[in-house]
Amino acid sequence: MNTQPDDLARYKEGQRQQWDSVAAGWKKWWPAIENGAQHVSKRMFELAEVNPGQRVLDIATGIGEPALLAASRVGTTGLVVATDLSPQMLDIARERANTLGLTNVQFLASGIEGLDFPDGSFDTILCRWGVTSLPNPPNTLAKIRRMLAPSGSFATAVWEEGPKGRPMASIATDVAREIFDLPSARPGVPSLSASAKNALEKEMIHAGFTDVRVEEMTLTLELPSAEDCTQYLMDVSPEFATLLSDKSSGQREEYRQRLAEKLQPYVTVDGSVQVPNLTICAAGRR
Ligand SMILES: C[S@@+](CC[C@H](N)C(=O)[O-])C[C@H]1O[C@@H](n2cnc3c(N)ncnc32)[C@H](O)[C@@H]1O
Repeated sequence: MNTQPDDLARYKEGQRQQWDSVAAGWKKWWPAIENGAQHVSKRMFELAEVNPGQRVLDIATGIGEPALLAASRVGTTGLVVATDLSPQMLDIARERANTLGLTNVQFLASGIEGLDFPDGSFDTILCRWGVTSLPNPPNTLAKIRRMLAPSGSFATAVWEEGPKGRPMASIATDVAREIFDLPSARPGVPSLSASAKNALEKEMIHAGFTDVRVEEMTLTLELPSAEDCTQYLMDVSPEFATLLSDKSSGQREEYRQRLAEKLQPYVTVDGSVQVPNLTICAAGRR
């Protein structure tokens, strides 16, 4: 992508609108998403050694994770700052924090580009499935490192590339190409390289992190049925929401049935769909 200031501003505004538009969908599907995803947060906490009393920054927190789980971990002597580009995602995060009775979380609607905390402000910085949606991963990582205290840690999770990372999105993209005759790049997911593990490790070392550890983790996404998967994708994925929103109800129904057929290998005896996803967890010290 061209990173001229005007292009960057347009890109960021587009991203903000797209993520705002799926905020309600994230709330709707949250139990299914977080059922598998919380294991990734817990592993990130172990890698970064999140402990009571720490100051934690969560970048691209979405509807509040891993920020809110970190808030219970750091306790009332600690503080979590949860940030996201999308104000509507953050509204839901705030609502969840209130419901959970958490008083040690602050919310800030800002893209990573706008964050300007002084050097060394945080003991831990977290970013779960946010680094690759950000415009410039090397700059982002350098900024994150600068905001860490001298002994502070950064922990992140990114999806492995291609079908191994998110099989459902990959199959859904293939079905879209078959039915709608799409050019091969659409709807697509931004990528660091063919192997997210190698690319992330290289980028973190390049940004100056030490003691870099990178590992794979499998998490299962479970949805009620194969027929629900199209609605799920339209609700939570800006790419699929854009792709399917201008299609006729007949075209969407054809898409829904075709995707359900292709997902049969993941259907269990009770009719639910269980899809294993491969994520990369990484951590490093300042
Ligand atoms: C896949 S969601 C992940 C949300 C959350 N961390 C989780 O794991 O559930 C990606 C989030 O990145 C946010 N985002 C996208 N671009 C961003 C940017 N430039 N700066 C900060 N947040 C951004 C979106 O608004 C969205 O909430």
